[in-house]
Amino acid sequence: MNRDANLENGAKDRQAEAFNKRYSAADDYLEFLDTDDVARVRLRDQLITKALDRLFEHVPSSPKDWSVLIVCGGVGKEASQLRRAGFFDVTNTDFSPAAVEISMQREPTLKHRRLDAENIDLPDESIDLVLVQAGLHHLPRPVTGFNEMVRVARKAVIVIEPHSGLITRALGQEFEEEEGEINYVFRWDHELLEQATKSQILERSVHVETLRALFHAKVYTTLERVLGGDQARILRGMKVFDATAGRVLGPMGNSFIGLVVKDPHEPFVGTASADKN
Ligand SMILES: C[S@@+](CC[C@H](N)C(=O)[O-])C[C@H]1O[C@@H](n2cnc3c(N)ncnc32)[C@H](O)[C@@H]1O
Repeated sequence: MNRDANLENGAKDRQAEAFNKRYSAADDYLEFLDTDDVARVRLRDQLITKALDRLFEHVPSSPKDWSVLIVCGGVGKEASQLRRAGFFDVTNTDFSPAAVEISMQREPTLKHRRLDAENIDLPDESIDLVLVQAGLHHLPRPVTGFNEMVRVARKAVIVIEPHSGLITRALGQEFEEEEGEINYVFRWDHELLEQATKSQILERSVHVETLRALFHAKVYTTLERVLGGDQARILRGMKVFDATAGRVLGPMGNSFIGLVVKDPHEPFVGTASADKN
């Protein structure tokens, strides 16, 4: 296992190599990405769905016409979801060649690029929406990666990453390991998102918002154990959970959903969820 500091260039190559290995033996994950099982679909898609619902509550144009860039998109999980949601012009990117290759085979109608999220080789404001899920915390410089997203985005950025709060830090991991390589689990909160955005775009009009959510993997596996794999019943159980315990726990959830909207046409109504616990 390599625990050297992330200072030299070789660290990124080793990360890419680790993900190449993981994706070359990722049959279960690929099956999950393309499943039609209703409860697993809800589990897989819930965070992006929440982010898109909130974003498109407020945009006057048809969001489906927007171009989308996914960074750290792996084998295409987020890109496929956006395509299913009706987005036409979707580019999936990652710096692992194996991830990009598998994504091309899974979904040839997507666009693909191999790129480093800390150094995106695209012009300023050239893509309408730039999205990341579970990617920035693998970078040696996560805020640089975020600033690259803000630079390239014409209209909006969505960041779905681990949340930084008292509870999530106490219960979550500090480091993660992938095929012998480790990364620090960099966590986000509203203040960090706002400061990183405003230092970059200064006084330009922007809406910065944070949502919190509970990623339901444990709820799903518990219900699966109790209900024996019946997807319709598990889905009902997930909905009951959301309407009861989820209402209390959601605002303290482990997932950070950050939304940055440049030049919003109208003020966003409603508020971000609590961010300090
Ligand atoms: C935990 S995986 C998440 C993949 C995908 N977002 C998903 O949820 O299925 C993190 C991804 O980030 C990619 N990654 C790590 N460092 C990167 C970098 N500097 N530039 C681009 N991608 C990177 C890895 O190759 C990997 O595919």
